[in-house]
Amino acid sequence: MQPKEVIFMDYSLLWLDWKPVDSLPEYTKRIIGLPATRQGKAALRELISGLKAMGSEPEQCGSREPGPAIRLTECRGNDEKVTIRRRGESMEIAGSGRGLLYGVFHLLRHLTLGEAYPVWESSPVYPIRMLDHWDNADGSIERGYAGRSFFFYGGRPVYSERIRDYARLMASCGLNGCCINNVNVHENALKLLTGSYKRELKRISSCLGEYGVSLWISVSFSSPIELGGLPTADPLDPEVRQWWKDTCRQLFSSIPNLAGFLVKADSEGRPGPHSYNRSQAEGANMLADAVSPFGGKILWRCFVYNCTQDWRDTKTDRARAQCDHFAPLDGQFRDNVILQIKNGPVDFQIREPVSPLLGHLEHTNSMVEFQITQEYTGQQQHVCYLLPMFREVLDFHLGHRPRQDTVAESISAVCAVSNTGDNYNWTGHDLAGANLFGFGLLSWDPSANPTEIAREWSILSFGRDRVITETVTDILMKSRSIYEKYSVPLGIGWMCVPGNHYGPSPDGYEYDRWGTYHKATHTEIGVERGPGGTGFTQQYSPGLAAMYASVENCPEELLLFFHRLPYDYRMKDGRTLLQRIYDDHFEGFEESLAMSDAWDALAGRLDPDVFARVQERFRMQLHSAAQWRDVINSWLYRLTLIPDEKGRKIYL
Ligand code: GCU
Repeated sequence: MQPKEVIFMDYSLLWLDWKPVDSLPEYTKRIIGLPATRQGKAALRELISGLKAMGSEPEQCGSREPGPAIRLTECRGNDEKVTIRRRGESMEIAGSGRGLLYGVFHLLRHLTLGEAYPVWESSPVYPIRMLDHWDNADGSIERGYAGRSFFFYGGRPVYSERIRDYARLMASCGLNGCCINNVNVHENALKLLTGSYKRELKRISSCLGEYGVSLWISVSFSSPIELGGLPTADPLDPEVRQWWKDTCRQLFSSIPNLAGFLVKADSEGRPGPHSYNRSQAEGANMLADAVSPFGGKILWRCFVYNCTQDWRDTKTDRARAQCDHFAPLDGQFRDNVILQIKNGPVDFQIREPVSPLLGHLEHTNSMVEFQITQEYTGQQQHVCYLLPMFREVLDFHLGHRPRQDTVAESISAVCAVSNTGDNYNWTGHDLAGANLFGFGLLSWDPSANPTEIAREWSILSFGRDRVITETVTDILMKSRSIYEKYSVPLGIGWMCVPGNHYGPSPDGYEYDRWGTYHKATHTEIGVERGPGGTGFTQQYSPGLAAMYASVENCPEELLLFFHRLPYDYRMKDGRTLLQRIYDDHFEGFEESLAMSDAWDALAGRLDPDVFARVQERFRMQLHSAAQWRDVINSWLYRLTLIPDEKGRKIYL
């Protein structure tokens, strides 16, 4: 079945829709250098078309001709280092083909920002900086809030020009990997491993490769049974091992730009080595051995927990699961395995502590998995700029080493679950584009500043009107804390509607099997995770363990993640715990109203379509924020019968 081109093709170019720039420097009129590699040629094309859109008419000339110019110097090799030097009135961009791409995009972005000579010498900190798509073969997207897949249509992968533009967007912010299918691998997606879609995959992979982006696919651990007809998927079974080796030989030889596999095993019903009494390391290593002759890697997810918990069981604590499973295996994984660990110990809530597992892998490669699709953070109907949260995680000191102790220094790769789909604006909410762009920049340089990224994204997306830039940056920077205030309080998480995870349902998960409980009574709320409770705090290094275990020293924003407390517990500012929760909910709503008003004040300054789309999203956000405020406050009031000290409206 052929895709309806219109589904894929009606889209904006986001920040790559270069705008005219006043007074471009002289050097933008001439380009010297003819790169030889595919990526280098793509860089030259981007430079010419970008400069044209900005208002220059660049000429390509020989190296001897005098006068200011941009010189592209393509170096040998395939590394990602890039240098942009000023030479008199000229600029030189030097690097491999991929380096040239990053350099050209950097130059174009900074010309748009108004910098005439943006010199830069940089290498990305991590060799793998990728987006994980949760796209299914039928074109639906698990936890997708921006339309349908542009990788899959009618049960199979399809190539379209949109994928090329996606690759351009990725390269322009430093991303270099893309896993195109859902970690929950079902039906036709299983067959990505076999020859069935070789032609389509080759085409997609080649197009991504032109922009330095490697292709990854998610595979099912039980593929030898599902596809190979074997009776088992036991990782130590010789036939199973041979099946994987043969399958990989065929696949990697036909798709040169394939980097490896992403695997969700023994997680939420997906098959894995535990079914055969084998360890996670035995499972991952078997796959690692199969891909290793082709330079492939295995990204092995650590999202392993008991998802059929009895809510009456008070011993099991889901937050502990990843460390319990993986910390004892440190050092047992092959070098081409990277453990993929969600940023928090549970599941992408608006506030969680950093996953303690990140501190236990001295001898194993690890990577952080962030989520930019806003599953628990407003589903792209609410604005929620996630870069400040990501920086907090990357900057976090794990407390195990005197130096090189932060998360950023402990990992060797980063990824995020993508927030894109086939919507015109790619991300559903126009302002969610900042999470896509920002994640790219942060993956290149984990010390990048979220405020600066927001400002840059605003200028690239909406032009250099200072009022717009200041307003958009301000909205983005406040948005996470506002969402947090009117949704789930103080790290407790999980008060959302079961299943679709949108909107409030404080008891929705209480008597369910997912291990996410608050156990609220009329006097207290929360799960005690200190040594007297589930002992989760002990998974941290001693200093952090002591801090989190102590109610007094625990950071207040995480108080209810770690502790069970009475509603009259006194917060540091003297308010009771309950009053703080009431206040946050009322304030969070008021602050979202102020954000929406600030957006309204941009009327007439912005593209009317963008303005109207975002305005519409603010209407949805306000409706939902009021719902969160009233449901959570009423629920607490009905439980406790303690009124709001300020006498605001709570519904009985
Ligand atoms: C969450 C999410 C699922 C997803 C899972 C995962 O639980 O709700 O849709 O499959 O995370 O990360 O694997």
